[in-house]
Amino acid sequence: MPDLLLGQTLTFTDDPFLSGPDAAQHERNGAVLIDGGRIQAVGPADVLRAQHPQATIHNYGSALISPGFIDAHAHYPQTGIIASWGKRLIDWLDTYTFPEESRFGDPAHAARAAETCLDLMLAQGTTTVCSFCTIHPESVDALFSAAQARGMRVLGGKTCMDRNAPDTLRDTAQAAYDQSKALLNRWHGVDRLSYVITPRFAPTSTPDQLAALGALWAEHPSVLMQTHLSEQHEEIAWVGDLFPQARDYLDVYESFGLLGRKALFGHAIHLTARERARLREVGAALVHCPTSNAFIGSGLFDMAGLKAEGQRVALATDIGGGSSFSMLRTMAAAYEIGQLGGTALHPAQLWWLATAGSAQALGLGDTIGTLRPGIEADLAIINLASTPAIAQRAARADNFWEALFPTLMMGDDRAITATWVAGKPTRPSLL
Ligand code: GUN
Ligand code: ZN
Repeated sequence: MPDLLLGQTLTFTDDPFLSGPDAAQHERNGAVLIDGGRIQAVGPADVLRAQHPQATIHNYGSALISPGFIDAHAHYPQTGIIASWGKRLIDWLDTYTFPEESRFGDPAHAARAAETCLDLMLAQGTTTVCSFCTIHPESVDALFSAAQARGMRVLGGKTCMDRNAPDTLRDTAQAAYDQSKALLNRWHGVDRLSYVITPRFAPTSTPDQLAALGALWAEHPSVLMQTHLSEQHEEIAWVGDLFPQARDYLDVYESFGLLGRKALFGHAIHLTARERARLREVGAALVHCPTSNAFIGSGLFDMAGLKAEGQRVALATDIGGGSSFSMLRTMAAAYEIGQLGGTALHPAQLWWLATAGSAQALGLGDTIGTLRPGIEADLAIINLASTPAIAQRAARADNFWEALFPTLMMGDDRAITATWVAGKPTRPSLL
């Protein structure tokens, strides 16, 4: 039996950074028809109601039916240390992150963290996350099992490190290769899950380990590879010391076979002109993590400049360097960072980044992230008047974008009326 969801609808036919706000399609009295876990039709409510009288109606009134949010870079094992005070990247990793990640060899701890993280994300309207795990294969099993139990499309991989990390968090070049390969074979393409080859970042891998993961990627060129690039100046200087022969940070990855169109580089803030040109040439994706970049004090991502030169960009929370599970809050932070850089990003651009843009960066643009027949039915239903402060501002709006922007800037999980995953409404327990 099909379901027919009624409300305002918002989706994109193109990238609004290229085509402007007209790339967005908004329907005030819209409808989305779902059957078999996929979107079957999108259009005016009266038309779809007349065409599908047998469908079960879910009338969301004036709420917005959006593609579910897509968080293109997060660390689910850092759920428990989100909002830890007072450090910058390297100290933050040593003080908070590594001790917590050391606990993920315990499958029960890993399962609890994965379940908590995914439930928090669902409560925020996020239906897909691309997550780092820890060095422990158990941490990958925990993430994918929790995603499977929720029917979610989730991507992730074992975070490989064989130097500059505590004993409890180091593997070897061979173990990174063997375990990543075994996990890839176990999970990639099972249900809605995708394995991602995951060297943490250049400083925590020896040349041998980077080469081993480059070789694994060459054997499996259809999978994604995720890592970090040029987040803080101290980190970049450290990479220069560790890899003196490299032209720059990106060159380290390239020299070990870790650069390609299916590469995802988290942060990518302090890039040289050569790195930008090379990233553009290859078509790798850059992942903007605005709450994290502010929280850890990393710097201002050049969204306007990077998009104008044709880079592929996604948006992400970077939990737990990021300070919020909410992609609404993440869009707000991206807006604020844009303002600090001199550009007011349009709400259409921000919403695109959190949905279709991130889907495209993950190679899933024909699978999730838009409202279109054949796309998987992962949806966020958003109340555009969820708090008194938002409601009184939205009530004065002259157009749809003005009505949406207060929720984008001030909204949180109270704005998420429902989250649909693979054609089913979910109400995750947060206990
Ligand atoms: N660089 C290497 N590892 C990490 C991490 O866990 N979080 C962030 N924000 N940056 C990193
Ligand atoms: Zn990260």
